[in-house]
Amino acid sequence: MPRPASSASTGAFPRTIGATRLLQAFPRSGSSMDKLVIRGGTPLLGSVRVSGAKNAALPAMAAALLTEEDVILENIPQVRDIETERKLLAAMGAEVELGYGRAQHRTTISCSHLAKPEASYDLVKTMRASTLVLGPLVARMGHARVSLPGGCAIGARPIDLHIKGLEKLGAKITQEHGYIEARADRLKGARVVFEKITVTGTEDLLMAATLAEGETVLENCAREPEVSDLAALLNKMGARIEGAGTHTIRVHGVTKLHGARHRIIPDRIEAGTFIIAAALTGGDLMISGCDPSHLGALIEKLQECGVSLRTNGESVRVMSDAPLKAADITTEEFPGFPTDMQAQFMTLATQAEGASIITENIFENRFMHAQELVRMGANIKIDGRRAVVRGKTALSGAAVLASDLRASASLVLAALVADGETIIDRVYHIDRGYERIEEKLKGVGAQIRRIGELLPRRSPVPVSAI
Ligand code: EPZ
Repeated sequence: MPRPASSASTGAFPRTIGATRLLQAFPRSGSSMDKLVIRGGTPLLGSVRVSGAKNAALPAMAAALLTEEDVILENIPQVRDIETERKLLAAMGAEVELGYGRAQHRTTISCSHLAKPEASYDLVKTMRASTLVLGPLVARMGHARVSLPGGCAIGARPIDLHIKGLEKLGAKITQEHGYIEARADRLKGARVVFEKITVTGTEDLLMAATLAEGETVLENCAREPEVSDLAALLNKMGARIEGAGTHTIRVHGVTKLHGARHRIIPDRIEAGTFIIAAALTGGDLMISGCDPSHLGALIEKLQECGVSLRTNGESVRVMSDAPLKAADITTEEFPGFPTDMQAQFMTLATQAEGASIITENIFENRFMHAQELVRMGANIKIDGRRAVVRGKTALSGAAVLASDLRASASLVLAALVADGETIIDRVYHIDRGYERIEEKLKGVGAQIRRIGELLPRRSPVPVSAI
């Protein structure tokens, strides 16, 4: 497919084959010193648009490793984890072009010249999802060297099920110096039963199985929408996958995959976060560009709490000024209540009349936000994987510390209803998964600003400047 030399209207730049040169300045996400300053008490009014899903974009970018042809992805969120994924692929010799201007949510990935099938510790330690390159690399290149991710704020999060699954497909896997080495002349189709439902484990094996010899049957798979979105992309690339979105996925291996163009699904967790923001602030907010069918468990629970909302096509409207009622949640795999919405729901529970019991079933250490909410005046008792939240309690602005991506979102929500000013430190966590959160919230009336060193908006930079 000939590519135009350079055209301002498409935002594409000519590329030099082999050399990984990237003509971009990363989006306006802040530095690690940034803080968010929020004054609470303003109902959110108007409309906010949801970005593409980080947790669908990351496996989709890794899937490009499976072919030497271009993969074009649209609706890519401008978040820090995407930049990390770009670096990861570029370090292997891939060319990753993140668009800018009108094409800023598009990325073109070419893995025609992969020189080094390796994911280094420096990158993997900043983003666990980097391990998603393991399956595609061993499937296409016959060899992969991937750093083990190490510990994480929310739990141990081992990747043993990824490894066991690849061994079932015939990969020889060794581990030394903190790295996994996987080798296989060609993977062979097999039956893999996951001992536990794992989202990225399912995605890793799904990608590996596309180029395996014969049929692979994956059982006890994750049914998350992000898994189905990955399967849709892979089928566009020529894979033969059936059953994505169910617990059993069948993959008929092929010898080669080709390029494709694919639009990433909307971010259901970002959408859920804005829905709770509107419910908490007593606002009237339209959340557009989302897929309500991905939000079933959350919407049902919020209605139980007395939140009035309406879904319509690609939008959810929240008109909520009624008092909130307490409700219990237990986090589960999709379509159950998502663990990535647990922290945000905890903030809502602090403003609900009565006691809510929150049970975290997926990760063993995902209540780090609770103590910060207590510092703001919340009444929360933790007992292992159970938290009892008593409300309604008045929250007051304070200096708080974000510990991980969703914990930081719960603190932003608390600050929106707190009396006075809240200063949230370490917001680099939130930049990992929320695109321009302060601009989006400001656009619907929130009193929010970022302090710290702001990076310039994405614009073309002359090659010599890199
Ligand atoms: C994905 O993580 C998401 N990340 C997480 O979102 C999300 O919280 C999680 O799924 C659950 O929904 C991405 O998609 C990039 P798992 P993943 O493997 O795949 C255990 C966010 O906030 N397990 O489904 O790493 C594991 O420890 C992030 O955006 C093993 O024991 O989660 C956990 O207890 C945070 N061995 C459970 O399974 C394995 O090999 C589920 O984890 C793999 C997982």
